[in-house]
Amino acid sequence: MEKKGGVVYPTGYEPPPEDDKTIETRKSLLSAILGDHSHEISADLDTDLFEVMKRRRSTRKFDTKPVEDWKIEKILAAADTAPTAGNFQGFEIFHVKNNKMKEKLVKAANNQPYVNAPLVLVYCKNPSRVKLQFPKTTLTKFAIQDATLAAAYSQLAATALSLSTIWIGMIDEKKVAEIIGTDLVPSSILCVGYPVKRKFPKPRRNLSELIHVLE
Ligand SMILES: Cc1cc2nc3c(=O)[nH]c(=O)nc-3n(C[C@H](O)[C@H](O)[C@H](O)COP(=O)(O)O)c2cc1C
Repeated sequence: MEKKGGVVYPTGYEPPPEDDKTIETRKSLLSAILGDHSHEISADLDTDLFEVMKRRRSTRKFDTKPVEDWKIEKILAAADTAPTAGNFQGFEIFHVKNNKMKEKLVKAANNQPYVNAPLVLVYCKNPSRVKLQFPKTTLTKFAIQDATLAAAYSQLAATALSLSTIWIGMIDEKKVAEIIGTDLVPSSILCVGYPVKRKFPKPRRNLSELIHVLE
């Protein structure tokens, strides 16, 4: 354990100090997510987290209606509120607007046609951002968790904004990286849009089967 500025961190795990620039960036992103869009939102926003979780369903048929810019802003800002290892944000998001790229992503995702969605976000691991004194394998493990959590936060934000999503994990990482032009390894694609049809929640395991209580 190490003590820095009165805070105790596990050895090798202390987050970087925040400078004025990072604080400013954070403030502007937070103002995007918390920003008052009440005149646009009205019936479109559900702020009850548990309702949002309950309502979220995967959609594989999107309406052609585009996603409004202010909603995209909130979905991206939501990703930035996710926790990350040491607060190093070991991930990047690629917002794919180019239609030709979207078509290529369909092929790189095992020909899943709904990848060509109104809003396409590719979440990539960026372990080089994670400046912690741990082996490379650990930093990569952190980066995949960072990227996954960020995508999950975006997914919930999209649901709260009356949109629907499909999480695409079945991807050829190399092909996706080549299409979006990065050396980073993609972890998932989140496709977002207005659903053609709203669906009921899918059944899950009984909680008693899922939870393993250790006394
Ligand atoms: C890690 C992960 C990978 C997934 N990959 C795909 C995929 O490649 N294609 C797809 O159609 N759905 C994919 N899904 C969506 C799941 O099939 C879906 O979430 C699941 O069936 C539960 O349905 P629901 O999201 O409507 O509750 C993936 C979900 C997760 C979490």
